[in-house]
Amino acid sequence: MENRTFYFAPLEGITDYIYRNTYHRLFEPMDAYFIPFLTPDKNGKLSRRQRRDVLPENNEGLHVIPQILTNKEEEFLNGARQLEELGYREVNLNLGCPSRCVVSKGRGAGFLGDVEKLKRFLDTIFSGTRMRISIKTRIGVEDPEEFGPLLEVFDLYPISELIIHPRTAKEFYTGTVHWEIYRFAREKSSLPLCYNGDLFTLEEYEAWDYAFPKSRAVMFGRGVLGDPLLLSRIRRTKGKTATWEDLQYELYVAYQKEIGNEQHVLSRLKEFWTYRALCRPEEREKIRQIYRTETLQEYAKRLHF
Ligand SMILES: Cc1cc2nc3c(=O)[nH]c(=O)nc-3n(C[C@H](O)[C@H](O)[C@H](O)COP(=O)(O)O)c2cc1C
Repeated sequence: MENRTFYFAPLEGITDYIYRNTYHRLFEPMDAYFIPFLTPDKNGKLSRRQRRDVLPENNEGLHVIPQILTNKEEEFLNGARQLEELGYREVNLNLGCPSRCVVSKGRGAGFLGDVEKLKRFLDTIFSGTRMRISIKTRIGVEDPEEFGPLLEVFDLYPISELIIHPRTAKEFYTGTVHWEIYRFAREKSSLPLCYNGDLFTLEEYEAWDYAFPKSRAVMFGRGVLGDPLLLSRIRRTKGKTATWEDLQYELYVAYQKEIGNEQHVLSRLKEFWTYRALCRPEEREKIRQIYRTETLQEYAKRLHF
């Protein structure tokens, strides 16, 4: 589809402002970048790290959309107010996080298990802010069949965009994504929809595009983390020539400046290789060697920096 919109998914602990800016400068830019979840307190206050991530001066030239993870109306609305003061016009609600400690507190994908409470929450937040509210959701807690009633609820609200990762919380990141549920949503819902999930290669993207040629938007997470050239291949653009190695070098320099502590920098850098392994299984042995490095010096030597 021409004019499709492409988003970078929020990945907490990974796609922070340093990563987003570096990706944006080196590779085919995304139309928007979702900021990993924020957890404002009841007054809307953010931690120092989270505030740094949303400050406009740390996101210059990028279209970024902040996300809030909560099941408490006041945290959402006061958090949204802080974001509005910073100049944001859209805030995203996280109904997708499958992590056990989040789900057990009825937040993220866990919120999908209490439809009545979710409705009250949506009533309050939609009448309490002028900001656009988009939602990123899974399709249920335990069973994909939960999505029908949930979609009926979503359709009652002026959600600016509903981003669907078609897995339940229980499925975590395993098994096949339920394209049939995304198709069902396309048939039933009048909301603007965006697809997200398991597009790691150009071939997988093309298969998805073939199945959903009219989908207006798609969000990439791990696929672009592991292969930052994926979007330029999809769009067939040739302008930028940076490589995966260039990205790793820039991150190596930037995180030393930002984080300082050598072991923290090293573990942050190694994490990118986890996603590389998903996209480049043939490089597993090389990646294993990189995981084994114990100092930044060793890491730099292995990567020929
Ligand atoms: C390490 C990690 C952190 C994530 N953090 C967030 C987050 O902050 N907010 C969110 O909505 N989803 C988060 N997700 C989910 C991703 O945004 C995305 O929905 C998921 O990876 C599926 O898309 P993909 O198959 O393209 O990666 C995270 C996923 C991972 C693996």
